[in-house]
Amino acid sequence: MSDRLYIFDTTLRDGEQSPGATMNLEEKVRLARQLETLGVDIIEAGFPAASQGDFEAVQAIARAVKDVRVAALCRALPRDIDRGWEAIKDAAHPRIHTFLATSEIHMTHKLRKSREEVLVMAEAAVRHAASLCPDVEFSAEDASRSDWEFLATVCEVVIRAGAKTVNIPDTVGYAQPFEFGELIAYLLKTVPNAGEAVFSVHCHNDLGLAVANSLSAIRAGARQAEVTLCGIGERAGNASLEELVMALHTRHELYQIDCGVKTRQLYPSCRRLSQIIGQPIAPYKAIVGPNAFAHESGIHQDGMLKNPLTYEIMTPESVGRTGTDMVIGKHSGSHAIKAKLTEMGYALDDQQLATVFAAVKELADKKERIFDEDVEALVLEMVYRRRDKYRLKDMTVFSGTGGVPPHAALVLDIMDGEAVLEEKRHSAFGEGPIDALFKCIADITGIHPRLDRYQVNAITGGTDAQGTVTVRIEDKGKKSVGRGTNEDILVASAMAFINALNRLEKMREEKEECPTL
Ligand code: KIV
Ligand code: ZN
Repeated sequence: MSDRLYIFDTTLRDGEQSPGATMNLEEKVRLARQLETLGVDIIEAGFPAASQGDFEAVQAIARAVKDVRVAALCRALPRDIDRGWEAIKDAAHPRIHTFLATSEIHMTHKLRKSREEVLVMAEAAVRHAASLCPDVEFSAEDASRSDWEFLATVCEVVIRAGAKTVNIPDTVGYAQPFEFGELIAYLLKTVPNAGEAVFSVHCHNDLGLAVANSLSAIRAGARQAEVTLCGIGERAGNASLEELVMALHTRHELYQIDCGVKTRQLYPSCRRLSQIIGQPIAPYKAIVGPNAFAHESGIHQDGMLKNPLTYEIMTPESVGRTGTDMVIGKHSGSHAIKAKLTEMGYALDDQQLATVFAAVKELADKKERIFDEDVEALVLEMVYRRRDKYRLKDMTVFSGTGGVPPHAALVLDIMDGEAVLEEKRHSAFGEGPIDALFKCIADITGIHPRLDRYQVNAITGGTDAQGTVTVRIEDKGKKSVGRGTNEDILVASAMAFINALNRLEKMREEKEECPTL
């Protein structure tokens, strides 16, 4: 008989805390819906006490999804817990997740509290949370560097106070797999009321061991794993959802554990995240990276042709990499596009569908074959960018090897919802065409951010492929990522820069001061 593991996804909370992964409310709701489709058990939607923007995003997610638990993270303080509860109380299945550090180093230097004080605080926080919400999780922050006996006492106390899940984080990614498994086994054996709660793990990847540590803990009896899509998260990130799930799936005979994740939704989910945060998936990323199923060497290719099992421990199809890129041409109908979008997990209404269909047709006039990635890029451009403040109307760029320095001329619409408030024109010289373009945009908007990263990728093969440009900018301590896709990489560059500025504006609207965790 297999055991059941609960998958707790924290992409929208711990993941979103990582540099460049900030999402706006609409993007968070979109990703939450995809996580629901993926089949995770719990979505940690955010940290409502951090800011008004976080509160509203958590509340919107709590109202948008139905078949999944929605957790709100709160420090072990009554006002945080009240705020967290306010944000999730409309969820079909709400969970309050409260945390407090238990290691000597955190208690002494960060909290400035004794063990006794921490015990009292943890117990009071859980009791308060349990008086509001039937489902309470407690996390002992920095558990892996805590004294084991003290940690066991904390677990006992919070379970008695009403915690249904006790989470043991490896907050700084310090643990080693054998040691972390031993810690979980110790707690399950030592904590007298351990049987009344689910033991969970939350591993960071500072030494590259987050998934290994989680698996070791699961073998030892942990039954909830806290993970993120593509492993995004603080510093080196969190345990990667797709790697953990596929390890359990591929080596089922070893673990004998099941979870509710639909493995065929793994790739679409990671792609969705990558599109939203504007960060391409790394080539060598296990399971979902572009090279994860590519066989380059002759010996491997020969083996694969004779029997795929020679070099493939799982099929690309099993993780949702269909390999059957739709080929849409000028004559494809809207039904084909609708079917494709549904398969890719997009539920668009008729008007959105008509917009995307018209854009696909327009692209088909310029490009022989339209692939999944092209359609997805159009969905993002045409459907999900509607409330932007700045919108590119027209542009011309001059560059070459001659004596005239590169320069650009640009027309930008300043929007109020769907209405154009003002049309602004500007031209500028630059060191190169991109520099000239970005100067034009910065002068028009009055925002002159520092450009941290500029990256161009062809989204499919072929010289007529669309190019995706990703930029990362920083302005007055706020970082933002933008993305643009077009057949012309200069247009894609302008779109990416404008997108980053739009996201920066939204971030400023939605976020206030964010207390550090
Ligand atoms: O890493 C950590 O300890 C956390 C807790 C808040 C669960 O993210
Ligand atoms: Zn964490």
